[in-house]
Amino acid sequence: MNAHKLVQKILSGKSTQASRSLATCFAPTNIALIKYWGKRHSALNLPMTNSLSIALPNKGSRSTLSINHLGKDCYFLNGQEVEENTEFYRRLHDFCDFFRFKENYSFTIHTINNIPTAAGLASSASGFAALVLAFDQLFDWQLDKSNLSILARLGSGSACRSLWNGIVEWEKGNRDDGLDSFAFPYALDQDFLDSLCVGLLIFDKEKKIISSRQAMLNTVNTSVSYKQWPQQVEQDLSAIKIALEKQDFNTVGLIAERNALAMHATMADSHPSTNYCIEKTYAYREKIWALRKKGLAIYFTQDAGPNLKILFMRSLLKEVQEAFPESEIILR
Ligand code: PMV
Repeated sequence: MNAHKLVQKILSGKSTQASRSLATCFAPTNIALIKYWGKRHSALNLPMTNSLSIALPNKGSRSTLSINHLGKDCYFLNGQEVEENTEFYRRLHDFCDFFRFKENYSFTIHTINNIPTAAGLASSASGFAALVLAFDQLFDWQLDKSNLSILARLGSGSACRSLWNGIVEWEKGNRDDGLDSFAFPYALDQDFLDSLCVGLLIFDKEKKIISSRQAMLNTVNTSVSYKQWPQQVEQDLSAIKIALEKQDFNTVGLIAERNALAMHATMADSHPSTNYCIEKTYAYREKIWALRKKGLAIYFTQDAGPNLKILFMRSLLKEVQEAFPESEIILR
């Protein structure tokens, strides 16, 4: 099954005529506590393992979609037109190809991100999720969330988790056509969820040194330690779920931090080796560990970029603000 056939299957019987002139939708970004790293099928973005994330409810992307009559797509990111000869334009264009139908539509998309783009803060996740919601609204398909999640996955794997607030699990699925690989919300006590805070330590806003897509591919193909990754994820996932159930934040934090470090270790021994860390990444990791030794229950996670995300309980907000005045704290 290729991606176009998969989309056709999901949209079979659905309208190819726009039901309105414009659709605007928001999707939150998400931060993985148990990471998605490595695909078993590249074109369908099928992952090797399940993953688990927490949404940042007010941080994400707002996408406005319309059909244009210019004969070509026009994309705007934060008010700036995306140039046609860029990788980003091509990615969006390939994604829009799924929805041109026999009418051969061209689209205009305006996306506003309130998070730095391409700095390891999953702006592509919220971007593709918001876009899928906008397609659904523009054509009035009224797809269920599982199917929206599959469509978002085709844009960027982690986008399939950006359709909900709270904790979300992406089930890897086993089918070759990818119809069983989608995310769903993970039920959790609301007070406990509300008490989970994320601090964004954004000390680097440069574009990533290498896309997560490419780094994942290198890792899967060449990393020796990656052979243990699926087993590591399985263990971490079941342990973090138990800790979430027990509302045991310290164990949640420890597992999330260990899982992120294990992911970065698999990249380190890939060829070519990938290191997303800069000096400040190491310095902040040390600072977090030192504060923890002193009794402050804070943990970090890190994605495909140098910036860290601090995980802590709301009861420690004042202490974290004092220790990291530069951090942008997301209260859930
Ligand atoms: O969705 P992608 O292709 O940008 O990959 C995201 C990978 C990580 O952010 C590193 C991990 C994750 O689960 O979000």
